[in-house]
Amino acid sequence: MQNDIESHLIEKRVFKPSKGFSKTARIKSLAQYRRMYRESIRQPAKFWGREASELVWRAPWKKVLEWKAPFAKWFVGGKLNISENCLDRHLNGPRRNKAAILWEGEPGDKRTLTYQQLHREVCRFANVLKRNKIKTGDRVIIYLPNIPEAAIAMLACARIGAVHSVIFGGFSADSIRDRIIDSGAIALVTADGAYRRGAIVPLKKNVDEALRGGTSIKRVIVFRRTGSEIHMEEVRDIWWHQELEYVDANCPPVPLDSEHPLYLLYTSGSTGKPKGILHTTGGYLVGVYSTMKYVFDIRDEDIFWCTADVGWVTGHSYIVYGPLANGATVVMYEGAPNWPEPDRFWKIIEDYRINILYTAPTAIRAFIRWGDQWVAKHDLSSLRLLGTVGEPINPEAWMWYHKNIGGGRCPIVDTWWQTETGSILITPLPGAIPTKPGSATLPFFGVEPAIVDEKGNEVGPNVGGKLIIQRPWPAMLRSIYGDKTRYRQQYWSEFKGNYLTGDGARRDEDGYFWIVGRIDDVLNVAGHRLGTSEIESALVSHARVAEAAVVGRPDELKGQGVVAFVTVKTGVDASRGLKEELRDHVAAHIGAIAKPDEVRFAEALPKTRSGKIMRRLLKEIASGAKVTGDTTTLEDFSVLARLSESEE
Ligand code: PRX
Repeated sequence: MQNDIESHLIEKRVFKPSKGFSKTARIKSLAQYRRMYRESIRQPAKFWGREASELVWRAPWKKVLEWKAPFAKWFVGGKLNISENCLDRHLNGPRRNKAAILWEGEPGDKRTLTYQQLHREVCRFANVLKRNKIKTGDRVIIYLPNIPEAAIAMLACARIGAVHSVIFGGFSADSIRDRIIDSGAIALVTADGAYRRGAIVPLKKNVDEALRGGTSIKRVIVFRRTGSEIHMEEVRDIWWHQELEYVDANCPPVPLDSEHPLYLLYTSGSTGKPKGILHTTGGYLVGVYSTMKYVFDIRDEDIFWCTADVGWVTGHSYIVYGPLANGATVVMYEGAPNWPEPDRFWKIIEDYRINILYTAPTAIRAFIRWGDQWVAKHDLSSLRLLGTVGEPINPEAWMWYHKNIGGGRCPIVDTWWQTETGSILITPLPGAIPTKPGSATLPFFGVEPAIVDEKGNEVGPNVGGKLIIQRPWPAMLRSIYGDKTRYRQQYWSEFKGNYLTGDGARRDEDGYFWIVGRIDDVLNVAGHRLGTSEIESALVSHARVAEAAVVGRPDELKGQGVVAFVTVKTGVDASRGLKEELRDHVAAHIGAIAKPDEVRFAEALPKTRSGKIMRRLLKEIASGAKVTGDTTTLEDFSVLARLSESEE
């Protein structure tokens, strides 16, 4: 265990915020950050109450926090509507005619939605939902491309109190079906297709497959994006544009309890079943509003671009709810970063004069590989702040980002958080906290992280351990949908009363956090969490597979690559053709992101005497390393020798 989270990286470079940046920033110095942090820890009710009071409440809260571990209620008794906070609240002043969303499709088509226009579209679509008998508390699946309609559908659900569950467009029919079953959703919003690298992803076809044989879904609302030929099931399937003909744009926001469920977002855990992470209304809004304001130091005149897809939590919190609650202008781009050429991002930054760019280390590594010449073609001087999220950023990638994209003048906020945390928890504040390449630096206001050993004792500086959070925060998950026991067990039982992040980390002599990565059986592939057992289940569902074990290996581009060790059933020919078939099988069952980079056939998998697969050994074999360490519990030693010889 200790081996897994030891950290050998010692980075000495320090970058102080420039005087110019600090002068105009909200938080201008380390001293000011420390003062506010101290207050947020000593008097959380005062701190969060002040943040919350900048937003619109229909009924005041009676208590900021009620904490009966592991169940938190924030802004107890308060009533509000998050879509009102993201839209209506900006309509009484000059923001009314300000761009809320600047969108660009992969083929190059463009759309601008001002706050007033976005408000109108959200109201109309909320009326479409109502017309189709979707009510407060009902679950609605959203399976759309990265287009404004995704944000519109989310906000429309929130407006009437329906609970959205967005599924990333890269997921397959099986994944959609699992999520429908778990959530009991009654409606699904999708599109005919999505553009990706010049090709069309058949979203509606995937939905048809997912719904085959019947599910709880009664209505499918289809947005026309690509104009592809699709099947429309009579009664069940309806067109978005046709429905709009029956509704007007008048739809008052429903005041909802602060703890009313806002959304479910499914994420990988260490067991095969994806978890429906449940976020609620008031605390989540305050969390994303406040982090957007301080971490990105967002200004009315800024153009902010978060390159994530709305299907991930980053898109929920920092394309939709955080920026819009702040009245910001966001850029949304539908497609791939290397379409039609590897300079698409830089072209977008130049075209829109983007000021703040928030992207992922995996993308940065790809840009480095594609070459600096693509960056050099464009004027990136509008940028003033950069951010990263999703996985640890290697110091050299950080330096490249700083120099080549930020022109040496932009602070970088390396933001650590999770689907479960809802908002950023460990991060630099750009005008206040000096950065070190590769470190997410210090905790955000109200966040009290620690690094502990197996027994829960805090470890000293530069010693690796498990990252925990010692008190509740407003945007935290409230439960795993339909499974309070799993919620308690997964996050709160190992160190009672503390939130277990599942990440390993160390803290240096300045108190800076260095996240090492996941410590459980979860991979981080291109910034996306994948449960190894989910991929294993997909492999074993193939008729010719007997057993499978999936591990990660370091991958220059994706952070981690997926390696599958597979034993086939007796009599099956373990051919190269079967390897390809298995890779495609995983892609079909989960989605292309989970496709193994390598499939290795083995006669047997290394197991302990109690039958547990020894993943540590497989990891070493997968990364080409010599197997070291204790193998005394191994049941059959010859397995190891044969595995190491197995061809790639
Ligand atoms: O391992 C951490 C890594 O991503 C995990 C969370 O994944 P997910 O729920 O998919 O959310 C990703 C976007 C918020 C974490 O447990 N991670 C995320 N951000 C960082 C990170 N690792 C290191 N540094 C980060 N800045």
